[in-house]
Amino acid sequence: MYTSSPSLYLLVIIIIKQISYITTEKLPSALSSIELATKYGHPPTQYNIITEDGYILAVFRLPGRSRIPVLLMHGILDSSDMWMLRGNTSLAITLANNGYDVWLANSRGNRYSRRHKILNPDTDPAFWQFSFHEMGYYDLPAVIDTILNESGAKKLSAIGHSQGNTMFYVLGSERKEYNSKINVLIALAPIAYLHNTPPPLSIVIQLSPLIESLVKKLGVYEIFGDNSTTGLLVHKFCSTPDIAYAVCIEQILFPVLGFDREELEPEFAPTLTVHYPAGTSVQSILHFLQIGYRKMFARYNYGSKVNRRTYNSPDPPEYQWDKITMPIALLAARNDRLSSIPDVAILRRRLPSVVFYLENPRSTLNHVDFIVGRNMPVYLFPYIFQILHENNHFVD
Ligand SMILES: *[C@@H]1O[C@H](CO)[C@@H](O)[C@H](O)[C@H]1NC(C)=O
Ligand SMILES: *[C@@H]1O[C@H](CO)[C@@H](O)[C@H](O)[C@H]1NC(C)=O
Ligand SMILES: *[C@@H]1O[C@H](CO)[C@@H](O)[C@H](O)[C@H]1NC(C)=O
Repeated sequence: MYTSSPSLYLLVIIIIKQISYITTEKLPSALSSIELATKYGHPPTQYNIITEDGYILAVFRLPGRSRIPVLLMHGILDSSDMWMLRGNTSLAITLANNGYDVWLANSRGNRYSRRHKILNPDTDPAFWQFSFHEMGYYDLPAVIDTILNESGAKKLSAIGHSQGNTMFYVLGSERKEYNSKINVLIALAPIAYLHNTPPPLSIVIQLSPLIESLVKKLGVYEIFGDNSTTGLLVHKFCSTPDIAYAVCIEQILFPVLGFDREELEPEFAPTLTVHYPAGTSVQSILHFLQIGYRKMFARYNYGSKVNRRTYNSPDPPEYQWDKITMPIALLAARNDRLSSIPDVAILRRRLPSVVFYLENPRSTLNHVDFIVGRNMPVYLFPYIFQILHENNHFVD
């Protein structure tokens, strides 16, 4: 009796073929952010910025004649590399080609910011006790202060993708004085609520208490770091042609982030998967799962005992939307399965200072097209240039 489905059979063939490929062929090389920026005509300056709590963050500046700096903040498990992978048709290079003073930040714990003045990421679990909260509370102020100091500008414009915009909601509500340093936040794939996430992610969210207790028992703190087992495995496995697309993109990435074969084509997949993921803390992932599970945009839930000690309350406090006064542009995508339209609608209702809202007219746009889609100069960048132009308030 035959029980195997043709697609499963095909998958097995591909895997066997790829195992021999992995062991015999060289993988596509992962250029660093400095190499990428240089390759596309903008040799960058690297800043190593120390946060108030001792993390050392790498920020790359692609200088331009414009006096208004633009800060680009990547999403979860990501790095500054992604903004340049499409070369002349990527956002960072396009902005730099148009004279903008572009700053590419890296949040704590990723490939470029896995450093601390005292803590050792390899041996101190304390290094990994952070999520988007600490990135918004400590990383952004350190980065923003450096940019304003170095450029002489009084305000900057910011573009945040996914978690890269979540961090700004933390900043605006917890460190109110920073609202006035932002001309505008352009939130690509805005994310603060995960009430309406479809499967498979909704299933993971429902299982999150179980996942949380499991990773605590196992004592895993870092996930998908370049030199961690999970990271090495993904980079090796997902960077071989065919497998990168058939398994890593079509079976894993698309179901979570939205299907869009037009914008993320097979030839590009290995370039993407040698650079992504770039590593983060397990706590960063858990915090988002908690947001979905508890249906609340709140601080990290440590459990009632530690919550009492940390927050003086058994439950983690919710972030205060009314304190966020920076102008915000929300750019959503209808085929984004992570930042779904109904969840962005909740965020839009709560935010007091939305100056622009757009559901991208291209109905197939997904969560990652915003940064690595093939035709973004056509479908996305005109909106970004318009918003930057309308909100560039230079103050001497
Ligand atoms: C990228 O753009 C720059 C500046 O516009 C141009 O000089 C260069 O030839 C372009 N490179 C490619 C590969 O298109
Ligand atoms: C991975 O290991 C190499 C070689 O030891 C090192 O140069 C690199 O910085 C490490 N990367 C990370 C993200 O830890
Ligand atoms: C500000 O810039 C000055 C001059 O470049 C430098 O000496 C100082 O350390 C900078 N401060 C911060 C907080 O970056």
